[in-house]
Amino acid sequence: MSKQINSLMMRMTPEEKIGQLNLVNPGIFANTGAVVTQDIDGKIRKGQVGGLFGYYDAALVGKTQRLAVEESRLGIPLIFGLDVIHGHKTIFPIPLALSCTWDMPLIEKSARIAAMEATADGLNWVFSPMVDIARDPRWGRIAEGAGEDPYLGSKVAAAMVRGYQGDDLSRPDTVMACVKHLALYGDAEGGRDYNTTDMSRLKMHEYYLPPYKAAVEAGAGSVMSSFNEVDGVPAAGNKWLMKDLLRGLWGFNGFVVTDYTSINEMTCHGTGGLKENSARALKAGTDMDMVGECFLTTLLESLEDGSVSMDDIDAACRRILEAKERLGLFDDPYRYVDEKRAGEVLSEDSRAAARDMAARSCVLLKNDGPLLPLKKEGTIAVIGPLADDKRNMPGTWSIASDWTQCVSVLEGMKNAAGAGVKFLHAAGANFTRDPVLAERLNFSGERVLIDPRSQQEMIDEALKVARKADVVVAVVGEAQEMSGEAASRVDIGIPQEQLPLIDALSKTGKPLVLVIATGRPLTLVRECEQAQAMLLMWFGGTEAGNGVADVLFGHHNPSGRLTATFPRHVGQVPLYYNHKNTGRPYDGAKPAEKFKSRYLDVENGPLFPFGFGLGYAPFEYGPLRLDKTELQGAETLTAAIAVKNAGDCAGEETVQLYVSDPVASVTRSVKDLKGFEKVFLQPGEEKDVSFAVTTEQLMFFNGDLQRVWEPGEFVIHVGRNSGDVQSASVQWKK
Ligand code: NOJ
Repeated sequence: MSKQINSLMMRMTPEEKIGQLNLVNPGIFANTGAVVTQDIDGKIRKGQVGGLFGYYDAALVGKTQRLAVEESRLGIPLIFGLDVIHGHKTIFPIPLALSCTWDMPLIEKSARIAAMEATADGLNWVFSPMVDIARDPRWGRIAEGAGEDPYLGSKVAAAMVRGYQGDDLSRPDTVMACVKHLALYGDAEGGRDYNTTDMSRLKMHEYYLPPYKAAVEAGAGSVMSSFNEVDGVPAAGNKWLMKDLLRGLWGFNGFVVTDYTSINEMTCHGTGGLKENSARALKAGTDMDMVGECFLTTLLESLEDGSVSMDDIDAACRRILEAKERLGLFDDPYRYVDEKRAGEVLSEDSRAAARDMAARSCVLLKNDGPLLPLKKEGTIAVIGPLADDKRNMPGTWSIASDWTQCVSVLEGMKNAAGAGVKFLHAAGANFTRDPVLAERLNFSGERVLIDPRSQQEMIDEALKVARKADVVVAVVGEAQEMSGEAASRVDIGIPQEQLPLIDALSKTGKPLVLVIATGRPLTLVRECEQAQAMLLMWFGGTEAGNGVADVLFGHHNPSGRLTATFPRHVGQVPLYYNHKNTGRPYDGAKPAEKFKSRYLDVENGPLFPFGFGLGYAPFEYGPLRLDKTELQGAETLTAAIAVKNAGDCAGEETVQLYVSDPVASVTRSVKDLKGFEKVFLQPGEEKDVSFAVTTEQLMFFNGDLQRVWEPGEFVIHVGRNSGDVQSASVQWKK
């Protein structure tokens, strides 16, 4: 412990120590619960506040910091946080989209720019990265993470932490990261947000915990616990999770904050009243209470009756003060308050980076013909509720975004195409006609405006436009708030209201491109039959329209690869590539066979597998080459493959390495991602891609939860996605 903190703590009363554990929210923008904090200024003066989230304006932060520094007894500075999730003012693609770039330097850069912009607005703490593994696309928050795979998810988690924190947290342009949500939040039953989770320790360790651990190892300064229970105990009060695992096993030495009022919510979970839950949360390792004021209102009494000790309070308080010290706030509480920096946001460079990321996040799902890239000639009809839409481009969790700064797809296409192309437009459909749903979708501002015309009138207008065009680009999909927090869906198709429009457009006989905005994997079987080309744009952020246009017109050869499986039908979920085998796997050989693990009405496999994505240039793979087929102990296996760009435009391929372990003491996935490499190839160019495989890639958690590798046979798979690989076996001895 630093001398400074030591001597400060000696001067603090128990009330002031408890005050440091209190995180308040003024309820302006960032309230994700029913409660907001009252009389913040008064509480700051009394030393009852340790941090605040919800302001993002250097002047306001400065003014509030002055209250703490000049008007509270000990003058302890506050930390200022915010949900900066995928960019701050310059908005980047939603995290699920960005993960589809498989590009760690790019992802790190997104966090770096976000940190620069956030600190220009007075912030020093961000509630990101969200690293929850999600296998269920009904869960709206799948949008906020890196998809279903723990290996890729861990790489993304570490890249984000590096981007936010840099190598010196006290610099005025770096922010403290907050890894969330510990733990298993992505496994909410039925995909319904905040729902319960229950899984074996083995499954946790193997598939769900690695990204949190990777973020901790990358030095994340704080961790947010999750709303859900873990092993029957709500995370906010879960000692195993925070003390044994996070601090004990993983060596985390930062602080833990709860999620929004989640100690209060323990009562609904069924673990008792506020006072006992607060004591339990503190003793379990929670340091800071988000908005709930549970610590503020109960800990003193618990201290008096012995349910918590002064040591418990001291430990939490010390961790908060240490975070402030790491941020440099004791040397200069106004380090992040520089109103002159206000102009640093939305710079040309940041927008250019956002455009590049928007293009690189797009995943080309289908391209018959090939219809794409579009030619810069003739008449293009750009139709659909998202065609000329800016309001939904930022995507979920983009608090500080200004949608008027966003570029719509139509606008982006006009920018890219030049004078040779005539554009026609019609909205063609609403997102919904249900005013109550629209109200829910508009909680963060008007995203969904209901066009009062009938569905048929809107379709007729769109058809008139389509018939005049040489090609139809229909920009369809979800509104921004159809994914994200408290935005679960059981129908994970394109919203119903738009389906008749797509049907009608497909019947015109005009070449049809579907550009799909979404925050989750969607079921697209029908659309796949109707359209010649399908481009997944997700929610691309500030520069969405320009990024999509770069892809549509071939300025950028699409290179995104899915990081979450796209099922055929919602009834298949959870559907993910790294599943276990069953005792009765179905291999497709005998369609009439009964007693196999399969459905009667839909095949087992996905519509688009994990790792999938097309480009404008075909990449040809040579045969998989292994330098050995028998290995021992610490030897290294080299798996190599030649990849050739057989097309006529330059492009990027993501070569993926998977490993399977067919015989082990516990059952293993059919395959697990263990490496990938992106190669950029000019037309006709060929490169050898090679992977070094060591026993590290063979390791897994055994029945005693020890990470081991067991000698025997391993299958090495290399290919373009999880469903299209070449495989070869090796024997690996101890
Ligand atoms: C609730 C969300 O679960 C969490 O991700 C977010 O950081 C907090 N609210 C604060 O807004």
